[in-house]
Amino acid sequence: MDENDRIVEEAEEAASEAEDSRALYEARMKFLGKAGKVTALMKRMKEIAAEMRPAFGKQVNALRERLEAMFAEHEEKMKRQELERKLAAEQVDVTMPGRRKREGALHPVTRVKNELIDIFSGMGFEVFEGPEIENDYYNFTALNTPADHPARDMQDTFYLTDEFLLRTQTSAGQIRLMEKKKPPIKMLSPGRVFRSDDDATHSPMFHQMEGLVVDRGITLCDLQGMLDKFAKEMFSETSKTRLRPSYFPFTEPSVEVDVSCHNCGGKGCPLCKGTGWIEVLGAGMVNRRVLENCGVDPDEYTGFAFGMGIERIAMLKYGINNIKLLTENDVRFLEQFKG
Ligand code: PHE
Repeated sequence: MDENDRIVEEAEEAASEAEDSRALYEARMKFLGKAGKVTALMKRMKEIAAEMRPAFGKQVNALRERLEAMFAEHEEKMKRQELERKLAAEQVDVTMPGRRKREGALHPVTRVKNELIDIFSGMGFEVFEGPEIENDYYNFTALNTPADHPARDMQDTFYLTDEFLLRTQTSAGQIRLMEKKKPPIKMLSPGRVFRSDDDATHSPMFHQMEGLVVDRGITLCDLQGMLDKFAKEMFSETSKTRLRPSYFPFTEPSVEVDVSCHNCGGKGCPLCKGTGWIEVLGAGMVNRRVLENCGVDPDEYTGFAFGMGIERIAMLKYGINNIKLLTENDVRFLEQFKG
């Protein structure tokens, strides 16, 4: 009996010293395992006088039961402690401020481009995109600008070879579309264009939005009506447009389109240089030579075309004074176009 108490005490001590479940398991094996103390006691059975054996066996079984109960209790406690430790280590402070994701914004050029597409697709225009590398024919010759034409000088051009160049104008898309599609045509063609030009308001790469309408009975009035609607939606409800005579080889007559200054309402301010008007785009009635080049009969069909610089519109609309801001991608600038 004393011997049992001593063993239980010893086991209790070993169990209390165990710091984790693995150590506790090892302690348990020392007493209850195959090579443990209890098993060793059982093996001594043979050495004991026959009449003493039942009593001895009872004692050993009682010891085993006490030890099993004791270890079970310790295991239970250990499990609880380990769970508590784990929960404490993985605790999350839900009151801490979260890590905010930086929100992106559409680039002003993309915004204006999308807005233009919205405005004109509302008037029934379809988007058509031409290639950025063009050949001389589509960029110039078919647009009534033959090789010796002085208007070629107006667009300082990046030539890749004698025949291929980076397109200087989205007008090349007019020809590509008219070769494919017969009138009625209502086309909108956005895209990058390239010119050897570089100052505060010009960049060697910029974006244009081309428009082309060809059908029976199209007149300059249709052009002005559509541009008026465009100006009102893009700038202000009270915007007006005016046409001034101009020259492009591929339109006849050609016009420069001014929009009343949205900054001063037409009274005159630094933005419009005191004139009340801002030049926004070039346009005109499609030159009959261009229609002929595309197999469209100019006695049956007429049309108008316009082309505007998307950067220019964005600069006017958002009061941006240097075109370089649009390609530097400084987040402090871009973040102002959120929402
Ligand atoms: N392509 C001309 C330019 O780049 C703009 C334009 C387009 C003019 C269509 C008239 C008609 O300046």
